[in-house]
Amino acid sequence: MKEVKDKVAFVTGAASGIGLGMVSVFLAAGMRVVLADVRQDALEKAAAGLDHDGDRFHLVAFDVADRSAMAGAVEETQRVFGKVHVLCNNAGVGGHTSIEEASYEEWDWVFGVNVGGVINGIKSFLPAIRAHGEGGHIVNTASMGGLLPVPAPLGIYSASKFAVRGISDALRLALAPTEVGVSVLCPGLVRSEIAENALRLSPVAPVGGPQSIFPPGVMAAGMDPVLVGQRVLEGIRNNDAYILTHGEFKDEVRETFDEILAAFPADPGDPVRVSIENGRRQAVAALKAALRAKG
Ligand code: NAI
Repeated sequence: MKEVKDKVAFVTGAASGIGLGMVSVFLAAGMRVVLADVRQDALEKAAAGLDHDGDRFHLVAFDVADRSAMAGAVEETQRVFGKVHVLCNNAGVGGHTSIEEASYEEWDWVFGVNVGGVINGIKSFLPAIRAHGEGGHIVNTASMGGLLPVPAPLGIYSASKFAVRGISDALRLALAPTEVGVSVLCPGLVRSEIAENALRLSPVAPVGGPQSIFPPGVMAAGMDPVLVGQRVLEGIRNNDAYILTHGEFKDEVRETFDEILAAFPADPGDPVRVSIENGRRQAVAALKAALRAKG
């Protein structure tokens, strides 16, 4: 999607942080935007701070884990703006508790929002994006925690973001023959309300009492969400597979992939299996060539 003017974007988790950064960049680029969030009051506060005509954006309050509400949101978007071109599955929450100690309820909450919300967004919005034939794009917000494991208490969060990355990579290949692109956004630290919202929105009391998932002062060092929004818009225009924003992680990612490569056996593999895998590799290569040809 090179031309975004007047195109319609639907952004979840839009009331603060990265989502709101995307919204302000999209509006400045001439797009029309639906801001979706579970917090109605925060949506209204965010809207009051937007320096754009009210007819360029629309607010919708619902929980992304609620499938029928997501289906209702696509209908509302079409009713208000006619079409939808860009879906940003961005709403996400941090957990509080280590994998060892977390309750099923906490697993269900974090996976329900971070992974379920992405699945629900794709299920509801992709048919609407495909239907008009004008092309479109899906951006799923994972995290650097979806490329690198994050220790406790963010293990569940990290696992959920690995899932978001997996969904995004697989969907990108599946949609390669179509006019819909897919990117995964993997930021490092960004200034946002994620720590407050982990406490505010959690259905479970944190083990050991309420405490921030970040040490004091860390959030203040986060990247400006508007800069992340600018990279997202660039990623949509370039149809980037990965939208990476934080250069400080590069060496660590290389180390992690080196560790994986070092774990392979020296044996090159059984020849029959190798020929089976070669067939699959060729199919993937053809899909990647189709993506490159789109430019
Ligand atoms: P944030 O808390 O400021 O924004 C997230 C928004 O999602 C909030 O407005 C919240 O009300 C909303 N939300 C939470 N649960 C929801 C639900 N069930 N349904 C609908 N909306 C819901 O935090 P931030 O940091 O802007 O988070 C946005 C995304 O970025 C998340 O997916 C997060 O995991 C990811 N991320 C954040 C990083 C950071 O350092 N801030 C780093 C990497 C990824």
